[in-house]
Amino acid sequence: MDKDFGGKSMSNRYAVILAAGIGSRMKSKLYKVLHRVCDKPMVQHVIDQLKPLNLNDTITVVGYGAESVKEQLQDQTNYVIQEKQLGTGHAVQMAASYLENKRGTTLVVCGDTPLLTSETLQQLMAHHEKEQAHVTVLTAILNDSSGYGRIVRNSQGEVEKIVEDKDASEEEKLIKEINTGVYCFDNELLFNALKRITNDNAQGEYYLPDVLTIAKEDNYKVMAYSTDNFEETLGVNDRVALAQAEKIMQKRINEVHMRNGVTIIDPENTYIGSDVQIAQDVIIEPGSKITGNTVINSFAHIGLNSEIDNSVIGEYSVIKQSVVVNSTVGDHVHVGPFAHIRPDSELKNHVKIGNFVEVKKSVIDEHSKASHLTYLGDAELGKNVNIGCGTITVNYDGAKKHKTVIEDDAFIGCNSNLVAPVTIKKGAYVAAGSTITKDVPEKALSIARARQENKEGYVEKLNRHKK
Ligand code: UD1
Ligand code: MG
Repeated sequence: MDKDFGGKSMSNRYAVILAAGIGSRMKSKLYKVLHRVCDKPMVQHVIDQLKPLNLNDTITVVGYGAESVKEQLQDQTNYVIQEKQLGTGHAVQMAASYLENKRGTTLVVCGDTPLLTSETLQQLMAHHEKEQAHVTVLTAILNDSSGYGRIVRNSQGEVEKIVEDKDASEEEKLIKEINTGVYCFDNELLFNALKRITNDNAQGEYYLPDVLTIAKEDNYKVMAYSTDNFEETLGVNDRVALAQAEKIMQKRINEVHMRNGVTIIDPENTYIGSDVQIAQDVIIEPGSKITGNTVINSFAHIGLNSEIDNSVIGEYSVIKQSVVVNSTVGDHVHVGPFAHIRPDSELKNHVKIGNFVEVKKSVIDEHSKASHLTYLGDAELGKNVNIGCGTITVNYDGAKKHKTVIEDDAFIGCNSNLVAPVTIKKGAYVAAGSTITKDVPEKALSIARARQENKEGYVEKLNRHKK
């Protein structure tokens, strides 16, 4: 049941995400809100933080580059198009088709503030509803407030207006309280006031903050809610701010993992994406980068300098100075140093992949080993297989990829070429230096190399010829 606040129903909650700006200060071909912070596009961070707020509807304003934003957000939000970027006020007006006739509260957030948390947004909304305000702006106190809109208060401390950096007088520029770009509006008021704002300002834009001035004039209740978490409010307008956002978010992510029981030896030099899951008692060494939907299970040991993307690492496994991408690593597996596990590989429990080994689209069953200098591509290895140093699965004929199957207990001697498609049957041996082009039967030894011939007394003969 809707609660009735003086005729206005306050129980409906909507959000508008502003994401249509060109982001010219980023100097980028990539759309601003798609720039990533800790491995996730900024606008996706914003959407994720809105999710716990129980919103009836979310509308994202897109413009320039709209298709790529839609591709990222899919059906997590509704979209409206702002053809020309005439300012933040004009952008919100685009959502009128969805919201104009709705009653309730509309939260406006910018797609370029990736650090905002749902806790802060929740506090802002609760404050707005408790005060029965018509507008509440989220503000923060910054030592360096340059670039932001400043909150101008009257002698009673009430919010008077917001003045943009470019329109501010020298005196107003000294104000430390800034507009974070996040607001709660009474819906009716918002869309009425938007019809009345003008672009008579330094940037020739329709400013959303001007809605506050109009609301004040009409004697609506305009409030500010100031957050202590000023770091959250960072608006990313250029690459310097992007790097700052990355640092702050990384610290936040690493601290969550450490509090959950993960040892991170050097948190300043460990890069963990927003969606990575790490179990208790994992140890992560400096210089490692872990991204995508990676899951790392208990007692795994990662690093130094390892790169793991979209992969699962099992319990007690060790990944040393290696790269693992789109793959699954079982329990008690040892990878590296200097190994490369490429997409669609599966290393089952107790596998060992040693230095300078590359694995691609291969399944390696339990207790099998490739300890040095090997390429395994499009291969299927059984259990207890031993791959000698320098073995190569010759998987590509110049046109197609072919499969190599090496069954349980097979032993591949050093420096062998296994020319696919080929199968080494159960328990078979391949002699070192062989180039195998035909299947090897179970428990057979295959030797496929030129026979050695020793020419006795050759050097003496040679020396005689020299004279
Ligand atoms: C805005 C605020 C400023 C505040 C700051 C906080 C205005 C006029 N100024 O300034 O008071 O301190 O955010 O970070 O609102 N956008 C559109 N369509 C447009 C213009 C902008 O969708 O026509 C979107 C942008 O994609 C961006 C957001 O609105 O996500 C804010 O725009 P931006 O140009 O970054 O405004 P700021 O100068 O940062
Ligand atoms: Mg901005």
